[in-house]
Amino acid sequence: MNHIVLIGFMGTGKTRVGKRLSEELNLPYVDIDKKIATDMKMSVNEIFDKFGEPFFRALETTALKQFIDTKERTVISVGGGLPIQPQNQPHLKQLGIIIHLTASVEILKKRLEGDDTRPLLAGHDLGERIASLMKQREPVYESLADITVQSGEQTFYQLMNELEEKIKELDDRKQK
Ligand code: S3P
Repeated sequence: MNHIVLIGFMGTGKTRVGKRLSEELNLPYVDIDKKIATDMKMSVNEIFDKFGEPFFRALETTALKQFIDTKERTVISVGGGLPIQPQNQPHLKQLGIIIHLTASVEILKKRLEGDDTRPLLAGHDLGERIASLMKQREPVYESLADITVQSGEQTFYQLMNELEEKIKELDDRKQK
């Protein structure tokens, strides 16, 4: 498979980067969380509330697997917890190039302050919660990634340039 998959912690900019990448490369774009919310006619918060996290995780796996049979190259961004579920990891690798977006705890804290759309952050001290989840998750994201890009330390324009160059290098290498 030849898709471009964006992974990374909440707030690292997967949706913004994914959308821009799809425009630049003229490819379709899918956000797995959005797809789930649209299909369920419910927000992610409502799904967690009504059915619980394991149900949401099962929806993520089902949504992800649909792209294994999609021939057209697609830019796909996935929720921060999806790559952490071991059952999703072989599917992610099968789908194509994996891009890990990362950022410091300080930057993520600023970006996620006041956000009420992410059930995993509700009711916790934000900085501590981000730091402890990041500690568990970053090594997993890193182990899956073909490309890692730092978000928040350069302009968006620079980030996109870096990313596009790295994708081109990987594509070129695959064709040789
Ligand atoms: C989650 C991240 C969210 C969403 C859900 C759970 C997580 O997606 O899937 O709230 O476990 O990190 P974003 O990474 O797009 O915020």
